Amino acid sequence: MGNESTPISHELRAKRATSFGGAAAAYAAHRPDYPIAAVRWGLSGAAKAPVNVLDLAAGTGKLTTTLVEQGLTVTAVEPDEQMLAQLRHALPGITALDGHAERIPLETASVDAVFVGQAFHWFDAEPALTEISRVLRPGGVLVTLWNYDDLSVPWVAEFGELFGAPTGRTWAASAARLPDHPNFAPSEQETFRHKQRRTAESLVATLATHSHVLAAASEERAAILRTAQEFLAGRPETASGEFDRPIVVTGFRARRR
Ligand SMILES: C[S@@+](CC[C@H](N)C(=O)[O-])C[C@H]1O[C@@H](n2cnc3c(N)ncnc32)[C@H](O)[C@@H]1O
Repeated sequence: MGNESTPISHELRAKRATSFGGAAAAYAAHRPDYPIAAVRWGLSGAAKAPVNVLDLAAGTGKLTTTLVEQGLTVTAVEPDEQMLAQLRHALPGITALDGHAERIPLETASVDAVFVGQAFHWFDAEPALTEISRVLRPGGVLVTLWNYDDLSVPWVAEFGELFGAPTGRTWAASAARLPDHPNFAPSEQETFRHKQRRTAESLVATLATHSHVLAAASEERAAILRTAQEFLAGRPETASGEFDRPIVVTGFRARRR
């Protein structure tokens, strides 16, 4: 899980990029949040301490919540109305706008940092970077964060191999990297340990919120989830009760020139 980008057709990519809304409530309930250390590391990439921050592709507000807890003034932008409804319900005090990465509904040079959680792969990278650089003040920072399964743990690696998107292990290290862009200094990368408290049932519910499962035909989706449930029931680490799902968060940050 956690790897939602694979060399797929334009059509399937578009289908997957817009697949989340139908599962917005499940997404809010079952996707992991982000570690504070990763958010602080991202913020520290700006030339001066950020005050106004954009959470782009904010979804149901998982990353928005952590940013708000840092005392920042946060604007959320998200194109899916059902995801946005969840976010507005969870964070009623936040400015939450309908918009895309390629056309952000904010003034030029109006924010000090732009965060993107688990979503940059859905963007049209070059136009999105140009648009993100427009809304960022010079010296501001773009931060992309990715929640990945910790594949150094055997049961997690096996689970990911069986039920993750077919991109496999190398994707996190390569495709998630921020592409070069003339308006940004070269990017930096860091990793952070994280975890999510799960049961076998709730981990299957998490799997069900991933785009490669959401976009599958209903029989295929049911078969994936049934087999995942059987796998977890058969492993001593996950068979009964609660356990920690180990996560590695990879962050990239690049300063606006
Ligand atoms: C995996 S979710 C991540 C949501 C949230 N950032 C989080 O970490 O939980 C990906 C989000 O990207 C949004 N998205 C897809 N294409 C987009 C685009 N071109 N511009 C902005 N958001 C987009 C989807 O609607 C979805 O809410």
